[in-house]
Amino acid sequence: MTRKIILDLDTGVDDALALAYALGSPELDLIGVTCTYGNVLVEQGAANDLALLDLLGHGEVPVFLGEPHARAKDSFEVLDISAFIHGKNGIGEVEIPASTREVSERGAVDFLVESVREHGEDLVIVATGPMTNLAAAIDRDPEFARNAHIVIMGGALTVPGNVNAWTEANISQDPEAADVLLRSGADVTMIGLDVTLQTLLTYEETARWRALGTEAGAALADIMDYYIKAYETTAPYLGGCGLHDPLAVAVAVDPSLVTLLPINLKVDLEGPTRGRTIGDEQRLNAAERTARAAVAVDAPRFVRELMERIGSVLR
Ligand code: BDR
Ligand code: CA
Repeated sequence: MTRKIILDLDTGVDDALALAYALGSPELDLIGVTCTYGNVLVEQGAANDLALLDLLGHGEVPVFLGEPHARAKDSFEVLDISAFIHGKNGIGEVEIPASTREVSERGAVDFLVESVREHGEDLVIVATGPMTNLAAAIDRDPEFARNAHIVIMGGALTVPGNVNAWTEANISQDPEAADVLLRSGADVTMIGLDVTLQTLLTYEETARWRALGTEAGAALADIMDYYIKAYETTAPYLGGCGLHDPLAVAVAVDPSLVTLLPINLKVDLEGPTRGRTIGDEQRLNAAERTARAAVAVDAPRFVRELMERIGSVLR
């Protein structure tokens, strides 16, 4: 039995890996990719998703354009640090053939709302960029939060942020949207820096993709090597790059990869801790805890799964 999945991506090197992980997971049926801004402009993210889907042999998956900027802003510019980590084109400055396909006429928010209405329990949404599209879906449909099942890559509960001591990049881009999502009572599993920085990829693994001798294997290896190189500057103590976004997809397939803490979450919106994900004091004693935060991960098993699943797509 397969579960339907929508990926909400700001593609992005590790978003590309999340896409490959989903395509390599027989338990999942990828029904669409919705695009958000973040690592790149939303249009660039969409172009990357279309091109990567073609490269990975899945040109049938529709791609939907989402919100171009945070809900409290009226524009968005890519941060220098994002361009440094992901490359100006989002995929490590690697040139892959542009797709001849276009994004769908329907927008991302409509697609998210309609898909949750149609598929309910049978659908999981994995969001690995700013939460702007999800918050817009909550605004649009009062039933969305009650019926959606969501895994996010974002936040940091037990470790410092990666933008500043308090906040992680995806939350930091649109704290208001993340707060709307977390306070909505939706079923949210948070895969934050607490666990993603314990899952690493090195040049050893990318060499194995290159050795497959395929166009897709070579391209993904080059894309990842750019990212690993950036991590040598931004987080040299790790000894590899963080596998943020693919871990969120992996948990959607198999939650036993992580230890989950049931907790009602919120995002700080004011003062120096703006962008911090933390327990919501207003719902400390609420009967139900609708979110879960991952606080430990079986990293060796996840990396083995990743190599197998992505390897199956690249061969
Ligand atoms: C997150 O920020 C983005 O740069 C990555 O793609 C990932 O989703 C990590 O903090
Ligand atoms: Ca991302």
